[in-house]
Amino acid sequence: MSIKEKLIIIGAGGHGKVCADIAKLCGYENISFLDDNTEGFFGGYEIIGKVLDYKEHLQDSCFFVAIGNGEIRRKFFETLEKDGAEIVSLIHPFTSIAEDVQIGKGSAVMAGAVINSGTVIGKGAIINTCASVDHDCALGDYVHVAVGTHVCGTVSIGKNVWVGAGSTVINNMSICGDCFIGAGAVVVKDIDVPGKYVGVPAKKMV
Ligand SMILES: CC(C)(COP(=O)(O)OP(=O)(O)OC[C@H]1O[C@@H](n2cnc3c(N)ncnc32)[C@H](O)[C@@H]1OP(=O)(O)O)[C@@H](O)C(=O)NCCC(=O)NCCS
Repeated sequence: MSIKEKLIIIGAGGHGKVCADIAKLCGYENISFLDDNTEGFFGGYEIIGKVLDYKEHLQDSCFFVAIGNGEIRRKFFETLEKDGAEIVSLIHPFTSIAEDVQIGKGSAVMAGAVINSGTVIGKGAIINTCASVDHDCALGDYVHVAVGTHVCGTVSIGKNVWVGAGSTVINNMSICGDCFIGAGAVVVKDIDVPGKYVGVPAKKMV
């Protein structure tokens, strides 16, 4: 947790709501949102302005970018980072994360997730509800391991990859950056061309 008292979450959507809940469980007492499309209150938390208003809060607040879309998450993340914002990670207390796991700043690890020994995860990543990432994996920045997905041991996943809900990546696989693995897919071969992959075994969509 940050030493700053206030946490501002960028993005008042479903993902943001879950992140606010994790933040509360982690001990943040002053939580609010910035969002371009909604005003008022969201999930009981105040929306204090539009996204670009973050500049007014750089001194007294820390930030979390809660946007599911990887491209937009990366964009806002980099903007905040450039301005020296303190970006925190949110890790649900009901997770199992090995002691030596490294998780980059601004990442979310949701309830029920398991991350095993030797794994390194980049910044702005999401390890979603009940997903698992096994031993000695390397996940790039802004990777999203969606709900109920299983990444087996010694897997390498490049930047900006979305590993869709309920999919499986078998051990020792390598997936290059900018891929979208469809829900329910099973990756059994290395993927070295960016694109969308679906099915069992996973194949590139045409
Ligand atoms: C793979 C995916 C990105 C494709 O989206 P899209 O490009 O909009 O594709 P469409 O929905 O237009 O579907 C195109 C075709 O692919 C098929 N298809 C789509 N997703 C598929 C999947 N996951 N597995 C197998 N086939 C799939 C469709 O049935 C359709 O087939 P048809 O042409 O025979 O009717 C998307 O369906 C998906 O799986 N998203 C994952 C979402 C997710 O994980 N959410 C979790 C949030 S935590």
